Amino acid sequence: NSTAGVEIKRLPFSRVSQRDLAFFEKALPGRTITDPDVLASSNVDWLKSVRGSSELLLRPQTTEDVSQILRYCNERRLAVNPQGGNTGLVGGSVPVFDEIILSTSLMNRVLHFDQVSGILTCQAGCVLENLSSYVEERDFIMPLDLGAKGSCQIGGNVATNAGGLRLLRHGSLRGTVLGLEVVLADGKVLNCLTSLRKDNTGYDLKQLFIGSEGTLGVITAVSILCPRKPKAVNVAFLGCSSFQQLLKTFHCCRGMLGEILSAFEFLDGACMRLLEKHLKLNNPIRESPFYIVIETAGSNASHDEEKLHHFLQEVMTLSLVTDGTVATEDAKIKALWALRERITEGLTHDGYTYKYDISLPVEKIYQLVEDMREHLGDKAKNVVGYGHVGDGNLHLNITSHSRDPDLLAAIEPYVYKWTAGCRGSISAEHGLGLKKRNYIHYSKPPEAVALMGDIKRMLDPHGILNPYKTLPDSC
Ligand code: FAD
Ligand code: MLT
Ligand code: ZN
Repeated sequence: NSTAGVEIKRLPFSRVSQRDLAFFEKALPGRTITDPDVLASSNVDWLKSVRGSSELLLRPQTTEDVSQILRYCNERRLAVNPQGGNTGLVGGSVPVFDEIILSTSLMNRVLHFDQVSGILTCQAGCVLENLSSYVEERDFIMPLDLGAKGSCQIGGNVATNAGGLRLLRHGSLRGTVLGLEVVLADGKVLNCLTSLRKDNTGYDLKQLFIGSEGTLGVITAVSILCPRKPKAVNVAFLGCSSFQQLLKTFHCCRGMLGEILSAFEFLDGACMRLLEKHLKLNNPIRESPFYIVIETAGSNASHDEEKLHHFLQEVMTLSLVTDGTVATEDAKIKALWALRERITEGLTHDGYTYKYDISLPVEKIYQLVEDMREHLGDKAKNVVGYGHVGDGNLHLNITSHSRDPDLLAAIEPYVYKWTAGCRGSISAEHGLGLKKRNYIHYSKPPEAVALMGDIKRMLDPHGILNPYKTLPDSC
């Protein structure tokens, strides 16, 4: 197995026996997969940076299936790796050793949609893009959107507390997820699948599972609040000569676009060069050190266009922005968004990528990229920065021709110490998974980490759920 350079020892879980296989084949006929070709792709993550050696993949269709699987695995001390669309970026979605892969891909039914409230209830394996189409046909949108929408599943989104491109407007899943159904490690079903906006009856248990990365339970169904589909959407793609100008543009944008602002994203010139080189995408404006993607979403096209026009006039007059283009029709909107959404894909063509997903006070976010460039000198192939400016979330990515332990030693713990120095977070939205778990103490006090360990032991006393993930070795 390959664990991205992290040394790990297999814990003393049972190994899958012929009797176990016979049990699963009876419980899930035709959905108990041992075919090495199918397993090969489920054992490796999207970035192809970590690889497990599981020999068994289970495809439950119902909550009862999941409950039966976990009850059995818990009694037999068999480790389980919950897997959604396998688009996670921190090595959490694939086994480290021979953990059984529990895939939610066949749990893809919409259970209910309320046309008045916009509350959608569905199984965890629904692909985000399919849910978007489903609710858009009914004049609503999903409250989250991300580049992986064609493969990631809502259960995986909730399990990672994914942020994405609409968080600035609609907030995090901690607010929009109204209810969850979760199967606990011993097979017990926790039905908190309510659709209430307000519910203060004791502890909000669903929050424990949002962002728990499959370590506390398997999410089987989600109830989520969808906003109304905006009647008018505009996208502006702008160039800035410095990050300082970009921040001033953000300040001005919030003031002038107010309630119609739905995204404020950025990429640097190095990202643009990768998009041009590896994906053959064209830069629609003059070359700049920084680019901004602004989206407005509102209910009145002429009102929104007028506001956007005034804003653009202002930032041009103040010389905050050097060049720009605006899209109102769908195809051009998609083309502009591709320049931001496809950076992750572009990076995979540049070599091995070291990915960092950092929360910082917004005025600090690009300083980390500049400091890292200086710190690494010519050790790295490219050091690029992009991300969700509106959320104070930087994606710092460093590429090299191949996996390079010396480069990694130069990046870590430097990047984490830098982040801790600003009281930032070493994982803004991707989670800790396998790769980041031992750095948790840079962002959380020891008392908080110890309490996380206590919660894990209470909910999963045999530690069968996604072992080696999220919690540090010290827990
Ligand atoms: P997986 O990758 O399969 O799993 C992720 C984690 O959740 C694993 O630990 C797994 O064990 C657990 N898990 C999955 N399903 C369940 C379940 N039903 N119950 C319990 N645990 C479960 N993230 C962002 O936050 N913002 C972005 O903008 C963003 N953009 C991305 C763009 C690209 C191109 C890619 C490849 C990834 C991006 N991501 C982004 C990463 C993000 O974490 C995932 O895309 C997504 O949220 C994971 O969903 P998934 O179904 O693929 O889960
Ligand atoms: C993004 O915002 O593009 C995603 O979080 C993926 C990434 O960090 O590459
Ligand atoms: Zn992101």
